[in-house]
Amino acid sequence: APGLGDLAKRAGLKYFGTAIDNVVLDNDDYTDIAFNESEFNQVTPSNGQKWVHIEPKKGVFNYTLGDEIVDPSKDEGQMRRCHNFVWHNQLPDWLTTGNWTKTTLLQVLENHIKHEADYYWGDCYAWDVVNEAFEDNGTYRSDIWLNTIGPSYIEHAFRFARKHTSPGTKLYYNDYGIERVNAKSVAVQAMIKDFQARGVPIDGVGLQSHFTAGRAPLYSDIRAAQQLYTSIGLETALTELDVRIDLPDNANKTAAQARVYADSVRACVDEEGCVGVTVWDFWDPVSWVPESFPGQGNACLWDENFVRKPAYYAVADVLKRG
Ligand code: G3I
Repeated sequence: APGLGDLAKRAGLKYFGTAIDNVVLDNDDYTDIAFNESEFNQVTPSNGQKWVHIEPKKGVFNYTLGDEIVDPSKDEGQMRRCHNFVWHNQLPDWLTTGNWTKTTLLQVLENHIKHEADYYWGDCYAWDVVNEAFEDNGTYRSDIWLNTIGPSYIEHAFRFARKHTSPGTKLYYNDYGIERVNAKSVAVQAMIKDFQARGVPIDGVGLQSHFTAGRAPLYSDIRAAQQLYTSIGLETALTELDVRIDLPDNANKTAAQARVYADSVRACVDEEGCVGVTVWDFWDPVSWVPESFPGQGNACLWDENFVRKPAYYAVADVLKRG
């Protein structure tokens, strides 16, 4: 049977992909699915390209964990979304405890982007340049970047990314909670309009799409949220889709989860500017959800026995209908 990647291409998307974490790469049942271009024609390293791993000491770069995902995906002919250059989380201690000025931290930022962009030159369909820079109320997130550099760290990061990534690499702003029209998604739109007025490069917005069955945005919400960005010329993608369940699971919840997955994927297929969907891992035992949300889980398309769940077939049906 055709996989989700095959079906996505037929439906007019560039890809249907998955995040892949390093901790399960020794599991052949897992890697047989993860590195299968028919099932997933795009991958995102869940952790392997983040700052803490890539530049563990100042000026010392280590691409091992990134390569563990990128290399096999290249062999398999999968696309890559690369994740990420700038985030408040998973930063090395030397960075978070350093005594920086605006000038020295901008130098650290450009040097990091320059090295990682150069190393993965030509490997990335897109880079998540800045991840999660806004609070839900639409103000900037208070973190080392904002507090040391000010809000201009975001545009600096995009300019550094354009300067150092290969031509054509799509530069994304990526966030959660922007899958509805709300204070946060509108603040992101305002930032982009300001960037466009001043010539700051940006190509796309990633709607992470970490949802909960029963409380997820509707199809129409996700359409309207994307149109904040597609209406001003950007592309969109659902970059981290998963749909967690309040445990214990039952057939009703599993069915509700399948509907959320299907509606989300349909909201991308139907949106002219939406290029693809990535699930934030496909196998329940490696999902980030149970650790972060005790009492919730089973958020993925495959269960612990590598059996495809109703959500898988619901997504496949949406893609088949195009
Ligand atoms: O690598 C160590 C391993 O050596 C150790 O044995 C193990 C024991 O706990 O921990 C491993 O590190 C974990 C790492 O994932 C790798 O699996 C960290 O504890 C854990 O905190 C880390 O979580 C990651 C999380 O980002 C950090 O905030 C998740 O895997 C990853 O899926 C998640 O991804 C984020 C996106 O980047 C941005 N959007 C939200 C999304 C979900 O939180």
